Amino acid sequence: MFKAALIALLLAAAIPTAHAQAPSRQEAPASGFNPTATEVKEQDLLNALSKVEGRISIPDTRAATLIQPAGQTWRDYRRGPLLWITAAIVLGMMALLTLFYLIRGRIRIEGGRGTRTVLRFGAFERFMHWVTAASWCVLAVSGLNIVAGSRVLLPLIGQDAFSTVSGWLKYSHNFLAFPFTSGVVLMLLVWVRHNIPNRMDLEWFRQGGGLFGHRHPHSRKFNGGQKAVFWIVVLGGGALAATGFTLMFPFYITDVTGMQLAQIAHGGVSLLMIGAMLGHIYIGSVGMEGALDAMNSGQVDRKWAAAHHDLWLAEVDAKSTPSGHPAE
Ligand code: HEM
Repeated sequence: MFKAALIALLLAAAIPTAHAQAPSRQEAPASGFNPTATEVKEQDLLNALSKVEGRISIPDTRAATLIQPAGQTWRDYRRGPLLWITAAIVLGMMALLTLFYLIRGRIRIEGGRGTRTVLRFGAFERFMHWVTAASWCVLAVSGLNIVAGSRVLLPLIGQDAFSTVSGWLKYSHNFLAFPFTSGVVLMLLVWVRHNIPNRMDLEWFRQGGGLFGHRHPHSRKFNGGQKAVFWIVVLGGGALAATGFTLMFPFYITDVTGMQLAQIAHGGVSLLMIGAMLGHIYIGSVGMEGALDAMNSGQVDRKWAAAHHDLWLAEVDAKSTPSGHPAE
C-alpha cells in the first residue's frame, strides 16, 4: 500500500517535469516568432513572411498565394468604409428622391393627357432597354448582397435561407452579366448619334431641366439629363464589364493584387451607377407622368412630347408629312 502511494507520488511529480523538459512547440525562438506555434497571430505571420502560400496541384503557381499584405487592406476596406459608402449612396439617394417627391410632387402633363400620341421608341429600342434594365436590376441587387448581405439579409432570414439565396444571386450575377453587356453595346450603337453633347444641353442644365417651375428647356430626342444617363450607362457599364470579367475569370488577365484593385473599382463604379440609376428609375416612373409610356407601348402623349422634347417632335412631324405640317 505504502509502495503504491510512493509510486503514484513520484509519477505525479515526474509528469510536469518531463513536460517542461520536452522542447515546446509554443516556445518562441530567438526572433520572437514561432510560425508553427498552435496560436499564431495573422499579423505576426504576415510581418515575418510577407505572404502566406499554400501547396497546390494546378499549373498556375500564382493561385498558391493565400494571404498577402494588400489583401488585408482590401479586406479592411470591405469590412468598414465600403459598407458605409454603400449605405450613404443607396439610402442617401432614396432619401433625396423622397424629399424631392414631397416638395415637387409628380411632374404632370399640363392640362392633363391629350388624345393623340406619337411613336417615341420602336420595338427593338424598347427590347434593348428592358434587357439592359432588367439584367442591371438583378446585377445591382446581387452585387449589393455580396457587399452587405451578411449584415442586412442574414440576420433577417437566417443562415440556411441566406446561403441558398446568396448562391442563386451569385449565379444570376455571373450569367446576367452577358445580356447586360450586350444591351449596353446595342444601346451605344443605336443611340450614340442622339447623345452627342452640345450647347443646348448646357442650357438644359442651367434651367434645371425644367424640373422646377412650368418652363421646359428645348430638347431634341434626348435632353441633357438623358444624355448624362446614357453616358453613365455606356461608360459605367463598360467599366463594370471590364472589371467584372476580370473577376469572373481569375488570373487570366491579372494577378491577385490586380483583381483586388478590379474589385474595388467594380464596387465603386457600381455604387455610383446605382445612385444615378435610382434617379433615372424615379423620373421615368413615379416622378413624371407619361414618361413610362415611352418604354412600355412606345407611344407618348403629344403634349408630353411637346413639353419635354419639342424639337424632336417637330422633326418627327416634319418627316411624317411632306408639307412639314404635323400629322393628324
Ligand atoms: C458585365 C457586367 C458585370 C460582370 C461581368 C460582373 C461580375 C462581377 C463579379 C465576378 C463579381 C465578384 C463576385 C464575388 O466576389 O464573388 C462582382 C461583384 C460585384 N458586382 Fe458585378 N458584374 C457586372 C455588372 C455589375 C453591375 C451592373 C452592378 C451594379 C449595378 C454590379 C455590382 C457589383 C457589386 C456591388 C459587386 C460586389 C463588389 C465588392 O464585393 O466589392 N456588377 N461582379
